[in-house]
Amino acid sequence: MIKVKNLHKTYKKGVKAVNGLNFKVKAGEIFGLLGPNGSGKTTTINAILDLVDYETGEIILFDNKYKTKVEAKKHIGLITQEVGVFNELTVRENIDYFCGLYINDEKLRAQYVEEAMDFVQIKDFAKFKPKKLSGGLLRRLHIACGIAHKPTLIFFDEPTVGIDPQSRNHILEQIKVLNKNGATIVYTSHYMEEIEMLCDYILIMDKGQVIAEGNYDALIDQIDLAEYIEIEYKGEMPLKVVTEINELPGILEVIHTKEKLVIKTSEDDKAFIKIIHILENNNVDYSRANANKPSLNDVFLELTGKELRD
Ligand SMILES: Nc1ncnc2c1ncn2[C@@H]1O[C@H](COP(=O)(O)OP(=O)(O)O)[C@@H](O)[C@H]1O
Ligand SMILES: [Mg+2]
Repeated sequence: MIKVKNLHKTYKKGVKAVNGLNFKVKAGEIFGLLGPNGSGKTTTINAILDLVDYETGEIILFDNKYKTKVEAKKHIGLITQEVGVFNELTVRENIDYFCGLYINDEKLRAQYVEEAMDFVQIKDFAKFKPKKLSGGLLRRLHIACGIAHKPTLIFFDEPTVGIDPQSRNHILEQIKVLNKNGATIVYTSHYMEEIEMLCDYILIMDKGQVIAEGNYDALIDQIDLAEYIEIEYKGEMPLKVVTEINELPGILEVIHTKEKLVIKTSEDDKAFIKIIHILENNNVDYSRANANKPSLNDVFLELTGKELRD
């Protein structure tokens, strides 16, 4: 669906925003661009859509199926990071305006506008002006404006920043529906949890470059950390126990605090049981023990030495 080869973009002030980016997006997938603020996600999208110029780079959309860029753009939806709607128009008029950029047939357009309002559940507010909407509803209007013309390739640039959890979940669920209905999705975020739950394929960016890519399992396989084991306990933790755990095979680190042990291991099946045995043998009064998979933040941390979180 998308091929990006050797993309370089430097802004006028000398900021190297994209530094030799290569990737492919397959038809039908939800492709995630994950990276901290300033890593070049928005610039990448803008370059793909010809909204900024760039020094070098080859970008192929839809395998060159469409003869002109104008023709290709009819099949693309962009939900920009900043909400951009007209304050003087109502909800319905805004969607109609954006849909009208691509759909000339008035009857069809009216139908698409109603469908878009249904899709983001904003019909009750059809006659409202944007200033009267909550942050979550405004985001939903912004999405409706971007998808009303039924594009088959849709870019969502951080669509959940600064909104309430309910609107956020609604948006994530609706993106899955768009994908099930056949659209290819490019989703950018600096929230790893969203990318983890939503995306079939993930590209992790930092400083305009690819740090790692693959599906979640493949990304986790790239790092040593296989499991986090957490033990909550009461009373004293004998030093002997900590030492014994440290000596188990595959232990990367044991973090010992007043009420908790956090053990990082590189072996995902045996360590947990062995640790429980050690706790039992030494009569440690533990209230909870659980094992967790690493997150994409751990991948980012291990590969860059920095936290992905803000
Ligand atoms: N219009 C611009 N002029 C100058 N620098 C910019 C401009 N837009 C973005 N940048 C810089 O380019 C880098 C990448 O920005 P951006 O693509 O917005 O990253 P992201 O979307 O991942 O937060 C950042 O250092 C940012 O400050
Ligand atoms: Mg951005």
